[in-house]
Amino acid sequence: MADVTEPEKEPLLGDSKTPQVKPKFTKHLILSIAACTLGSSFQFGYNTGVVNSPEKVMKSFYNESYHRKEGKYIEDSLLTLLWALTVAMYAVGGMIGGVSAGYWGNKYGRRGALLRNNVIAVMAAGLLGFSKMADSYEMLIAGRFVVGINAGINTGIVPLYLSEIAPIELRGFCGTFNQMSITFGVVISQLLGLDFILGTDELWPLLLALTLVPVIYQLCVLTFCCESPRYLMLTKHDEQAARKALIWFRETTDVSSEMDEMRSEAVEQIHRKKFSVGDLIKTKELRTPLIISMVLQLSQQFSGINAVIYYSTDIFTSAGLARSTAEYATLGVSVVNVSMTFVSAFFMDRLGRRALHLAGLGGMFVFTAILTVSRVFQPFHHWLSFICILAVVCYIIFFAIGPGSIPWFIVAELFTQGPRTAAVSVAVLVNWLSNFVVGFVFPILQSAISDYSFVPFVVLLAGFWLFTYIMLPETKGKTVEEIAALFLPKSLQESLPVDGVESERAKIN
Ligand code: GLC
Repeated sequence: MADVTEPEKEPLLGDSKTPQVKPKFTKHLILSIAACTLGSSFQFGYNTGVVNSPEKVMKSFYNESYHRKEGKYIEDSLLTLLWALTVAMYAVGGMIGGVSAGYWGNKYGRRGALLRNNVIAVMAAGLLGFSKMADSYEMLIAGRFVVGINAGINTGIVPLYLSEIAPIELRGFCGTFNQMSITFGVVISQLLGLDFILGTDELWPLLLALTLVPVIYQLCVLTFCCESPRYLMLTKHDEQAARKALIWFRETTDVSSEMDEMRSEAVEQIHRKKFSVGDLIKTKELRTPLIISMVLQLSQQFSGINAVIYYSTDIFTSAGLARSTAEYATLGVSVVNVSMTFVSAFFMDRLGRRALHLAGLGGMFVFTAILTVSRVFQPFHHWLSFICILAVVCYIIFFAIGPGSIPWFIVAELFTQGPRTAAVSVAVLVNWLSNFVVGFVFPILQSAISDYSFVPFVVLLAGFWLFTYIMLPETKGKTVEEIAALFLPKSLQESLPVDGVESERAKIN
C-alpha cells in the first residue's frame, strides 16, 4: 500500500512559507453550498418523504385506475405489491444513478453534473405530474424510477462538490449541511403532503411535480457558481481555471497555499496507482475498511430508518391513531430529525464517530423494541398509541446523532486518496441497495406480521451494534495515514512514519 507508507509531501495550510489565512464562509462559498444542497440534497430528501402522507389517496387512484381498465378492483396483496414497487423503484433508480455518479462527475465536472442532472428531474416531474391525467400508475412507477436516478447521482456528486469547494477546516460542517438539507426536504414533502394541503385526491400529482421547484432554484443559482477548483486542477489539469475558481470561492487573491496543496496532490497522483473495486477486495489492508464501510451503510438502512420515513403514517394509524393525528406525528418526527442532525454536528468532533454511532444504534435498538411491544399491546391499552409515537421520536433522535450522517462521510476517512473513489462507489451502491430492500420488503412485512414488523430491525440493530463495537476504530482527530495504519499488520504499523501529515488530520476534522 504505497499511499499508506508514503508520507504526505504537500505544505500545510498556513505553514511557515505561506501566510495563514483563516478559513471563513465567504458569500460565494455560502451561495454555492446553498445552491448545491438546497437544490440537490433537498431534492433527494423531498422525493424520499413525498409518498408517505398521500399513500392512501394514491392507492385509491391505483384502485380506480385498475378498475377503469380491468373492470374490477385490485386485490389487497397486489395493491400492497404495487405500492411497495412505487416506493422501492426510487431506490432502484438510486443505485443506477449512484454507480454512474463518478462517471458524470469526471466527464462534466461536479457543478456541471449537478446542473445536467436537472434534466432527469424534469423528465421525472413530467412522468409523476401527468400520471393521473394519463390514468396510468405505470407512469407513476416509472417516474419514481427516473427521479431515483436523479437522487442517486445527487448522493454521489454533492459530497464531492462540497468537500472540494470547502476550506479544509470547514469540510465536516459542509458534510452535515448535506444531511441537514436531506432531512429538510423530507419535512417539506411531508408538510405539503398533509391532506388539507396537497395530499388530496386532486392535488397529489402537483405534490409530486413540485420536484421542479429545486430544479428551477438550482438552475438559477448554481449557474452563477464556479466549478470545483480541485476538479479543474486534478481532473482537467487546467491550473489557471482552478486558480480563478479558488479566488472566486475564497474572495481573496491569496490562494497560494491551497494552490500549492493541489499542485503537490497533482504530482502525487502521477505516482499513485489507480485502485479498482477488485483491488479493494484483493488487498488485505483495504478489505477490512471496505467491509466496515459496507456494514455501516447496512447499519444505516437496516436500522429501518426508511421504513419510518416512507411508512410512518401507516405505522401510526395501525397503532390506533386517527389518520390526521398520524400525519402530524409523521411531520413531528421529521422535524426532530432535522433539528437533531443540526445538534449532532456540534458533537461529531468532540465525542467521535465510534461513540456516536454506537450510542445511535444502541438507542435505536431499545426504541424499536419498545415500539414493537407497544404496538402488540396497543389494542388492550389505547394510551400505548402515544408510547408508539414517543418511541419513534426517540428512535429518530438516536438515528440523527450518529447513523444518519456518519456512514456517508466515514468512508472517505477510512481510505487514502488512491482507493477512496472506488470505496465510495461501493458504499453508495450498498446504501441504495439496502434502501431498496427495506422500501420493498417492509410493507409486505407490515401486512404479513403487522405489529411485529420491526422485530427484524431489532435483531439486526443488535448485530450492527456488536459489529461496530468490535470493528470500528475511532477516526476522530487521526490522520488518514494513521487510520490506514490501523488496518496494517502489527509489524508494519510500528515502522510507519506518523509525522508531517497534519494537513490530513485537518481534512478529517
Ligand atoms: C440518510 C439516509 C436516507 C434517509 C435519510 C433520513 O440520508 O441515507 O436513506 O432517508 O437519512 O433522514
